[in-house]
Amino acid sequence: MTASIVRPFQNADLPGAEAALIEVHGTDGYPVEGVDQPASWLRSPDVLAAWVAEVGSKIVGYVAVMRPHGEGAVSLWVQHARSDEEHVAVLARLFVIKEARRRALGEKLMEAATDYAQSRGLRLVLDVMTKDTAAIHLYERLGWIRFGEASHRYGDDRQISAVCFVSPA
Ligand SMILES: CC(C)(COP(=O)(O)OP(=O)(O)OC[C@H]1O[C@@H](n2cnc3c(N)ncnc32)[C@H](O)[C@@H]1OP(=O)(O)O)[C@@H](O)C(=O)NCCC(=O)NCCS
Repeated sequence: MTASIVRPFQNADLPGAEAALIEVHGTDGYPVEGVDQPASWLRSPDVLAAWVAEVGSKIVGYVAVMRPHGEGAVSLWVQHARSDEEHVAVLARLFVIKEARRRALGEKLMEAATDYAQSRGLRLVLDVMTKDTAAIHLYERLGWIRFGEASHRYGDDRQISAVCFVSPA
């Protein structure tokens, strides 16, 4: 089997990460808002750090840790834990293309993000659409805690139900 690794994102990875994202949108409808501008969605200025999964020389997955901006899961967690946004970051943009799944790459991407956050004293939160059952299963298997429900708004006033998770303490 071709070797796979998870490593920090480098600028040269962008075309491969964009191609992988477009593929995942085709197979899974993720992200629901579409992939008209994959580069700006992946490389938003709020990205604090990001990692890629690579099989051979092909980028097959991605995850980012992002600065919070009072989004649903963040404000709910801050209230719930009587914390503040300074101690919270958002795990976002997690995906692995279909042909590379079930090799623990999703898990390793999650580990890279959680190690980063832990070493900076940040608690990670995320929201996930209820339709993304493989991701929910992964978060629960890794001990993430479901703490609330949210509604993800996108496009022309559309919304879809989501659940909020926080990383293990
Ligand atoms: C969620 C997602 C990233 C998981 O990626 P992945 O690389 O398949 O994740 P993992 O391999 O770590 O774990 C998935 C499953 O593979 C299994 N697995 C891991 N290594 C394995 C191996 N070597 N052989 C067989 N199965 C294996 C895990 O046990 C897990 O099974 P389970 O879900 O039944 O417990 C992927 O399904 C995805 O991109 N989904 C669409 C995008 C999405 O929903 N993103 C969430 C945004 S919030």
